[in-house]
Amino acid sequence: MTKLTETPAWRALHSHRQTMSHASIAGLFEADAARFQHFSLRAGGLLLDYSKNLVNRDTMHLLAELARERGLGERMRELFNGGKINLTENRAVLHTALRGEQPVFVDGVDVMPQVRAALDHMQSFSDGVRAGRICGQGGRYTDVIHIGIGGSHLGPMLATRALAPYADGPSVHFASNIDMAALQRTLAPLNPATTLVIVVSKTFTTSETLANAKSVRDWLTRALGATAAQQLVAVSANTGRAAEFGVAAERIFPFWDWVGGRYSLWSAVGLPIALAVGMDRFRAMLRGAHEMDEHFRNAAFEKSMPVLLALIGIWYNNFFGAASHAVLPYDESLALLPAFLQQLDMESCGKSVCADGSPVDCDTGMIIWGAAGTDAQHSFFQLLHQGTRLVPTDFIAACQPHHTVESHHAILMANFFAQTAALMNGAPFADNPHERFPGNRPSNSLLIDRLTPHSLGQLLALYEHKVFAQSVIWGINAFDQPGVELGKKLAARILPDLDDNAPVSGYDASTNGLIDFYKANREAQFRERGPQ
Ligand code: F6P
Repeated sequence: MTKLTETPAWRALHSHRQTMSHASIAGLFEADAARFQHFSLRAGGLLLDYSKNLVNRDTMHLLAELARERGLGERMRELFNGGKINLTENRAVLHTALRGEQPVFVDGVDVMPQVRAALDHMQSFSDGVRAGRICGQGGRYTDVIHIGIGGSHLGPMLATRALAPYADGPSVHFASNIDMAALQRTLAPLNPATTLVIVVSKTFTTSETLANAKSVRDWLTRALGATAAQQLVAVSANTGRAAEFGVAAERIFPFWDWVGGRYSLWSAVGLPIALAVGMDRFRAMLRGAHEMDEHFRNAAFEKSMPVLLALIGIWYNNFFGAASHAVLPYDESLALLPAFLQQLDMESCGKSVCADGSPVDCDTGMIIWGAAGTDAQHSFFQLLHQGTRLVPTDFIAACQPHHTVESHHAILMANFFAQTAALMNGAPFADNPHERFPGNRPSNSLLIDRLTPHSLGQLLALYEHKVFAQSVIWGINAFDQPGVELGKKLAARILPDLDDNAPVSGYDASTNGLIDFYKANREAQFRERGPQ
């Protein structure tokens, strides 16, 4: 494949960038009274306004041309049709089938019957728990603990939090970090006899999840004895390991190697969502995501919301040197969205070799960060407005809140509108240099009619496809994560070295020094008996 930076569209974008050097977003609005109409679009329950970007029609045309030259259309067909586009792992990538309807074949086998069977299993289990037909030792389940990490944690936690206004099932808690303090805090108020424990791990080998799961199983066994298994459920692509852990066969929910961890909330990994809000709403979330899939599949690039977000991101990343991108939900219930997108985007696009193993020839994944507004305005917005760095932003809000206190929502939305306008217009001519705002700082605005299961599905699928489209243009594999393995291996090597108090010598001098310092300074009970 031709190097990205040598493609005609890239070169054309490079010269176009020079012509945009003196343009301002505010100036582009002056030149086009209908700019909002020209640079905004609706898909399902979402409105994307991308008019507050340093782009004109030529920019968008050239960027779309780049997507065409990089074969985005063809790659999309492969994605949806079960092609093994995860080349390094030789796997299909079919999170879209989890919310699809049409047959999709992997190695000649239609995956849809398994997908439907898994959804039916989720339905009967979650209906049973919510109705009190499926019980724990102490009767009806009042609480659920979901144990997982990364892709087996962030999506379900985000969706459960986002859909809290619909929650009418047991209370759902999440435990991911290996820090025992976090687990103890989660367990403290819970009654083991009425708590359902879901262990979620695609591989069932992740050390943090297994250690947390063992500690929670001990907690159950201490309280309930040998029948603690009645409280346990597992979700995994490695059903054998889940059974070895002690989960009854009928309580193991499978998923498949063609579902990437960070794309897995649509599978049984989303079981806590179904327990919290009911399976009908979980299915509504799938339908919303499917609607976005269909939009992505069918819309022209210039009218495709995920493609537009991808192209605008590439414009700033590769032609303006912007290294980071801020995600700013003006909605507390989406406060975990930046964390979810950090994994989705940075694990997918944080690559420096192309899918064929050759080095990339430009910057790839951006650093994703952010927090909920208006809180964020009072922490890092200073840098967005007056700092030296260009940080493109996504502002996200719902027109209709789930509460009825109009005055609060009006203040929230006024701040949303004000911030995007202030970033764009600035106050470049203020006399006092400290009060000068350069402006010309770009933002996308995403307005959701109302944050429902359906629109949440659309929103998350929108970002999944944005990330995919960027990965195709950069020529990288969005579906592996070899970069997280080295540290995991090294931790496994270091762990036995913490068993005694002898000085270590097998690492670099800094690491040796840190380990020895820790051993000398850890709590006395650890020093005497080694870690428990
Ligand atoms: O450490 C990264 C990772 O492999 C993620 O990609 C994945 O989502 C997470 O760990 C958890 O993996 P598993 O579901 O296999 O426990």
